Amino acid sequence: MVDLIIAGGHAVIGDAVVQADIAIDAGRIVAIGALTGLPGARRVIDAEGLHVLPGAIDCHVHFRDPGSTYKENWRTGSSAAAAGGVTTVMDMPNTDPPTANREALVRKRERAAALSLVDWGLYGVLDSSSLPHLEALVEDGIAGFKCFMTENTGDLESPDDGVVYEGLERLARLGVRCSVHAENAAIMQHRRRQFIEAGRTDARAHEESRPEVCEIEAIGRVTALAQAACAAVHIAHVSSAGGVQAIRHALAQGVDMTAETCPHYLLFGLPEIDSLSGMVRVNPPIRGGAHADALWAALLDGTIGMIATDHAPHTEEEKRNPDIWQCCRGMIGLETQMPVMLTESQRGRMSLPAYVRWSALAPALAWGLYPRKGHIGVGADADFAIVDMEGAYRIDQSALHSLNRISPWHGRFVTARPVHTLVRGNVVMWDRRVVGEPGWGRGIAPDWRRSSHG
Ligand code: DOR
Ligand code: ZN
Repeated sequence: MVDLIIAGGHAVIGDAVVQADIAIDAGRIVAIGALTGLPGARRVIDAEGLHVLPGAIDCHVHFRDPGSTYKENWRTGSSAAAAGGVTTVMDMPNTDPPTANREALVRKRERAAALSLVDWGLYGVLDSSSLPHLEALVEDGIAGFKCFMTENTGDLESPDDGVVYEGLERLARLGVRCSVHAENAAIMQHRRRQFIEAGRTDARAHEESRPEVCEIEAIGRVTALAQAACAAVHIAHVSSAGGVQAIRHALAQGVDMTAETCPHYLLFGLPEIDSLSGMVRVNPPIRGGAHADALWAALLDGTIGMIATDHAPHTEEEKRNPDIWQCCRGMIGLETQMPVMLTESQRGRMSLPAYVRWSALAPALAWGLYPRKGHIGVGADADFAIVDMEGAYRIDQSALHSLNRISPWHGRFVTARPVHTLVRGNVVMWDRRVVGEPGWGRGIAPDWRRSSHG
């Protein structure tokens, strides 16, 4: 007798989509096969007509907690995750206090442990303030590090190259990967100053102030430092065709690196910048057109291994201002990623197994969570997004679960959606209603020896 069987669904297992029944006990997958060959179960979830995917692992979210809980908090952010089929989130360190030492980590961990519906990992920041604490943070179970090479919400320092290099050398010895916001700060600041002096406040000025060379140069610089330090890095939110080229170049040099892009870089462009203005102001900027094409190609050929959302909540007032420079940077995305990307899969952009590689397997591999997470296999955590591939609807931001729901995806027509979400065998969303308990989520325990590009 096992706790649960998910019966009759089409499961994405490796490169195949197969009809399979999945037995779960004590939060883990214990058998996969046909119902007749499986043990009895205390509960059966009928997944007929539905697809069973590994829950998404979003390695880039900003829950703002502690510090800016008027923007988001662990309960609302993780509810959005559950509603979006996301079963593990990794939270960025630009909170208040920044996650730069043991005390700050303990404080954030208390919030996450008490409030999260889904499993979670916490990044430490890599800057001059955290340098003396890197070993302690790793000992305390940090999920990874983040280095902001340019300005950010929370105004954390952008460390100079000396600090970055020493940090990478030390993280290399610890075997821990570092996510990098790779944008050149000086070029961007120089151009922005000129635009402001010229009186520009329009939405396109933001994008024009951060030309792709900002990304190319920063990826080139940080991967050179990583190579010299023998460190593992991860390029967050790749936004440009030139950025993709810089990654290809570094990979060819043998740099231990992974990279992510986000749905807004893949699917938005100048029309959205013009119509949605501050709502799509984000760093790095949305570029669209040939850049989006290059990002799709990079996902399909494996140069960019994964998608993340960079879920970056702000209030409606903070996102809407006729002066683009006054609009906070970032947008929510946790709850819309899966419907939006599955819709692209249905349009023929990628197979379902490719989507699962980008949304679950690759982040699990990069952040040391595989084989515990990121796939459907015996022994893995029973983390699932059970999705309806015929669930057409129009995204309505008022139905989202984030504390601040202003979303550039509002009104978009999608043709698939998660209906049930399970975290370690426990239902956290049932029939599109979030039913999980705050505190169910657990901290993830990365195994750094297994971290890889996949
Ligand atoms: O636009 C952004 N906002 N980009 C980032 O990388 C950080 C994020 C935030 O924290 O608001
Ligand atoms: Zn971010």
